[in-house]
Amino acid sequence: MADLRVEELSATTIVGVNTLSLKPGQERFVTPESYAIAATVVDPATSWQRVILDGDEVVGFVSAGFDADAPHEHFRSVLWRINVDADDQGRGVGRYAVDQLIDEARARGFDHVNVIYEAGEGGPDAFFQRVGFTPVDETEYGEVVAQIKL
Ligand SMILES: CC(C)(COP(=O)(O)OP(=O)(O)OC[C@H]1O[C@@H](n2cnc3c(N)ncnc32)[C@H](O)[C@@H]1OP(=O)(O)O)[C@@H](O)C(=O)NCCC(=O)NCCS
Repeated sequence: MADLRVEELSATTIVGVNTLSLKPGQERFVTPESYAIAATVVDPATSWQRVILDGDEVVGFVSAGFDADAPHEHFRSVLWRINVDADDQGRGVGRYAVDQLIDEARARGFDHVNVIYEAGEGGPDAFFQRVGFTPVDETEYGEVVAQIKL
């Protein structure tokens, strides 16, 4: 694995994040219905976002929410979005991003991280399970709720 590091979003990196590409068929997995509904209001105090760089190139983005008072348990410590550029998928960038997220969750005193995703061909199911998430529930929209215990 090359020279990976994380940075906060900045004027320089946001352009790279906004132009991260997807492989054909991945579009429908990016924002599960539960997230589209829950994330209409984003509170800067509880949201965490990091850009993943390889050298100077933006290769990925990860965001999460940490809010012990969120009404629904699923959203108290939750991975909101993870996206690795199509050309950089399959070489450990996603795993690296999840490792950073886990460190952050621990530092904030959480004992788990949740993710909600749609199962299906071309989706992130195998990735999430490979990096340690275990399915624990299902949403009313039929999405998988999976969790890593820290
Ligand atoms: C899901 C995604 C973030 C994975 O990132 P990535 O950088 O390709 O993943 P990594 O290379 O770090 O893979 C980590 C592990 O998962 C496995 N994995 C990743 N994608 C996989 C797939 N489609 N099928 C099977 N295994 C997969 C890898 O083999 C690797 O296993 P290993 O470490 O034991 O060898 C990336 O494919 C992506 O951006 N997808 C589009 C956006 C998306 O669907 N996001 C999730 C929305 S909630």
